[in-house]
Amino acid sequence: MNSNPSDALVFYGVTGDLAFKKIFPALQAMVRRGHVDVPVVGVARSAWTVDQLRQRVHDSLEKHGGVDPAAFEKLSRLLRYVSVDYTDPAACRAIHNELEGARRPAIYLAVPPHLFAPAIEQLAKSGCAKDARIIIEKPFGRDLASAKNLNRVLHEVFDESSIFRIDHYLGKRPVNNMLIFRFANSFVESFWNRNYIESVQITMAEDFGVQGRGSFYDETGTMRDVVENHLFQIISNLAMEPPARNDSESLRDEKVKVLKAIPPIEPTDLVRGQFRGYRDEKGVAKDSRTETFVALRLKINSWRWKGVPFYVRAGKCLPITCTEIVGRFHKPPTLIPEAVLKENYLRLRLSPEVLIAMGMMTLAPGDTFAVEMSEMVASSAPRTGEMEAYERLIGAAMEGDGSLFAREDYVEEAWRIVDPALEKDAPIYEYEPNTWGPREAERVTPEGGWHNPMAATLSLRERVG
Ligand code: BG6
Repeated sequence: MNSNPSDALVFYGVTGDLAFKKIFPALQAMVRRGHVDVPVVGVARSAWTVDQLRQRVHDSLEKHGGVDPAAFEKLSRLLRYVSVDYTDPAACRAIHNELEGARRPAIYLAVPPHLFAPAIEQLAKSGCAKDARIIIEKPFGRDLASAKNLNRVLHEVFDESSIFRIDHYLGKRPVNNMLIFRFANSFVESFWNRNYIESVQITMAEDFGVQGRGSFYDETGTMRDVVENHLFQIISNLAMEPPARNDSESLRDEKVKVLKAIPPIEPTDLVRGQFRGYRDEKGVAKDSRTETFVALRLKINSWRWKGVPFYVRAGKCLPITCTEIVGRFHKPPTLIPEAVLKENYLRLRLSPEVLIAMGMMTLAPGDTFAVEMSEMVASSAPRTGEMEAYERLIGAAMEGDGSLFAREDYVEEAWRIVDPALEKDAPIYEYEPNTWGPREAERVTPEGGWHNPMAATLSLRERVG
């Protein structure tokens, strides 16, 4: 634990969607656990009063997780509201007044990226940035050049150790559990490398569309929305070496090394798709070429992984919502006929269920010598009241613990890899909603095909009833 935790939280963009869906429930939970007892200053452009903010918090909690009367009451007392023009120094002085002498405020910027630079400049001029921590919501830039520029703007005012770049996947328990699985079990090391693993595939599927976020999504696309950040964090956890020391920098050093070993994406390793009907969504251009699906193949040229392809597919309007990883083993040199022999695999299901499964060949029930694939499964049901990602992340940032945040060099490496794949003129193929993307995606399909996450879900449901 840091001996110098933040003594105020300033939240820019408090009238927005993220605050409504994620941040207010997280704050109520933090207050309930006694993790927040400092002024919470909401900042936005609307001319609201603090009572309007309290009402908004109440509405949010009713929709997302429920109101805990005692915790809500306490949170209400901590709330302040400042209406600002983000570029006006006088407005920032008003924030300063609400900080009640806080010496180490955490300032969370959940505003559109073009407002980051002016907001940071005014925070610095008003004195609010002094000794503050800054939390930046994604997207962190939109390509390598803009990410570098944003890092430069941040570093003019803040030291890297005071910058917390949010990727909510790093706050998820199953994503952190990947590291426990890999580094707290000695048997995993024996097979988790190119000697045993033939390919790795990662599916992040969502069975819904852009859910009213058409104009945001049309500017963003799948690659920027989830691949460059969430899925790269998953790949880093899968592919990294054990950190030399148990501290945030050693951990983040190893993650950056994974990205450094990945060459930029080549056109032949990428297929972009767009679901039919996307262009009719509100806020989406009629001739949009933004992808709502990608399939790609990555190389990781590290000692551990060289020669093992990593396949990624992600998209909207797919047949199921789930995030799953499958590492397929080489086939053994057995006498069992090729036609019936299937590869062993390790399956990590991150959502909606959380489980780790090993797929192995066993003798099928009955009197013959037929074989079948069986799974050995470790699963745990989440406990009620478990921390959600945003609660964990806000708490960590206020404590000054950077382990769950993307470091400057990491975000720049991530953009370096995807930059060539952001070209809007690159081919894009239409697919029917409720399918696994366009037919052209076969071009970047793992040998032996994609593991079917739906079959796995059904068999799990049968097992657990
Ligand atoms: C967000 C993306 O970052 O992550 C969304 O903007 C996506 O488009 C979401 O749906 C997925 O997050 P989760 O936690 O539901 O897997």
